[in-house]
Order: sequence, then structure tokens, then C-alpha cells
Amino acid sequence: MLGKYKALWLNEEDFLEVIDQTKLPFFYETKLLKTTNEVVNAIQDMTVRGAGVIGSVAAFGIYIACMESDGYEDLKEKAKLIRASRPTAVNLMWAVDKMMDLLKDSTNLLKDSKKFAIELNDDEAKESRQIAKYGADIIEKIMLKKNKKSINILTHCNAGWLAVIDEGTALAPIYEAKKRGIDVHVWVDETRPRNQGASLTAWELGKSNVKHTIIADNTGGYLMQIGDVDMVIVGADRVSANGDVANKIGTYLKALAAYDNNVPFYVAIPSSTFDFDIKDGLKDIPIELRDENELKYMSGIDSDGIVREILVTPKDSPAINYGFDVTPARLISGLITNKGVYKASLQEIEANFL
Ligand code: MRU
Repeated sequence: MLGKYKALWLNEEDFLEVIDQTKLPFFYETKLLKTTNEVVNAIQDMTVRGAGVIGSVAAFGIYIACMESDGYEDLKEKAKLIRASRPTAVNLMWAVDKMMDLLKDSTNLLKDSKKFAIELNDDEAKESRQIAKYGADIIEKIMLKKNKKSINILTHCNAGWLAVIDEGTALAPIYEAKKRGIDVHVWVDETRPRNQGASLTAWELGKSNVKHTIIADNTGGYLMQIGDVDMVIVGADRVSANGDVANKIGTYLKALAAYDNNVPFYVAIPSSTFDFDIKDGLKDIPIELRDENELKYMSGIDSDGIVREILVTPKDSPAINYGFDVTPARLISGLITNKGVYKASLQEIEANFL
């Protein structure tokens, strides 16, 4: 694919260009990342977001850092900054470590880093297409079992092509199901406080003409109780060796509701999302704590087309803004991966991915 992906690409001058996700769904704008600092800022301020794309930008970030580096030792310092830009999505650390390992004996850092970043991203794109296929097979199976002509799938946050190149993870099977002619409808959790569902997932699905309905974050449980959810598919930011899944805050509550209502709950991930060093995800996956103002303020567009930020809480009330939670493996029906669908268990994960 030579450096061209949906959410990011190398431009004619070989700099990294990304879709500015903070502007969606109101404006489609792109941003050029030309320095290590710009790469770090883009990850931190959510210009780019979603575990896979954070990893992809980090890989190209190492290439950008090579433009500014005086040898491998100097590059190491810049790599540290990129690696530390966000804490939970392990794809970030994985991509930086992989790039640095590949480059350790390089005699031409700039040329090699570009080549390795493209290869890494081409592999990720391939994995997304495999996830699409295995996930769509499950969608078909569930429809067959329930003898249904259409299917309602609930998703949380955004795990589409804005979050993981090239087709996404949780949304990839949905796109593939649509291509197979399946009548699919998606319940889109708004995903407070940053509204990745309402602003990004809904935008993506709309662009692809996939039927969808935005719901308040608290609605999923009720929909499951009245039989309106056939399955849940979410992505993940990190999966520990024992199959615990860190994903956007609120995922755990959906998994509990799904378990209680016998609704299959699947997690779609590429192999870069596994963290084999963590054996107990509930205990050891680091959870990002973000600025309380993300919760206290909301932004949207007014009738004059101007984007405004408004306070929605008492000004002085404190708020706490955890970015992620961890869903225990026991609540997960299966992991939809690039190699097939597996149980979320230490045994299956180690046997197939280590
Ligand atoms: O804080 P974000 O927007 O980067 O979080 C994104 C999510 O939690 C996604 O659901 C997650 O990355 C899984 S899809 C790659």
C-alpha cells in the first residue's frame, strides 16, 4: 500500500498527514505532522485516537523522529517521548519498541524507518481485513442460529477505520457483513465524555450507509432486556495474557448487561493489542486518568455553524475522568482476531499468539 491508509498517509513530501478527529463530525480536516513534538501532541490531544491508529502514528512518528535525530542514541530519546504519550493502548508501546528494535543495526535510519513503518502498517491493515472476515462469519452464524433476517449489533466507542487502519476492528466485521448482503443495524453508544461513538462511529457508519442509531450510554442494558441486541462487538486498547480486556470506559457495564441477558459479547483485536507481560489485566493494566474538564464541558456546533464548548456541571463540583475500564475474561464470548476466533483465556492466547 506504500504508506497510504484511510486515517493517515504519507504526503507527496513524505510527511505524515492524519485526519484531525477532534474536528469530526462537523468538519473534515487533516493535519500535517512534521516533528516529534507534533506527533506526541497529536496523540495526546486526540487529533488521532483509537489504539491501532495511535500505534500506526507512533510507527511513522519514529520515521519523523529520524528526520530530526543525530543517530540511534538521539533517536532513543525521541522514541521515549512518543512511547509515553498515552498510557493504556499497548499498540503505542508495541509499535515504538518494534520500530526501535528493527532500527538498532540500521546504517540509514531515515530510509529504513520509512520502510519499516510502511511494512508495519501494511501488516496491521492486513490483520484488519482478516478480523473483518472472521467477525462476519460469526455474525452469519448468530443470524442462522436465531433464524433472523437482520441483526442488531451494539458497539461502544469507536473501533472503525478512524481507530485502526485500514477497516477497523469492531466495525470491520460490520462493513464486511454489509458487503455480504446482510441487513445489519448498529446501536452506537454515545461514549461520554469524548463522544467517540456519537461523533466518530456514527459519522463512519453514515459514510458507509450502514444503518445505525445513536443511544445514550445507559440505554444498552434496556435494549438487551427487550431483545433488541443480538450481539455486542467492541475493540480493545490492551488485552492481557489471561484475556482481560481494557477498552473505553463503560465497556465493562455493557459486558455485564450482555452476560445477564445471554447476549454474545465479542472483542475484535489485532495481535498488537495483546500484552503478554500482564497476566492479570484487572490488576495491572494502567488506566488513563484524563482532565476533569472533558467531563464538565461538552462541545458541539450551534445554528450558525460555530463549534462551541459549554459547561454542563456546576463550575466548582469536582469530577473524575477515567478513560478506560477492564472487562474480565469470564464475561467475553470470544476474541475476534486476525488468526480466528478464540476464547479469552491464558491457554488459548498463549497457544495461538506467543
Ligand atoms: O481514548 P480513545 O478515543 O483513544 O479510546 C478509543 C477506544 O477506547 C477504542 O474503543 C479502542 O481504541 C478500541 S479500538 C482500537
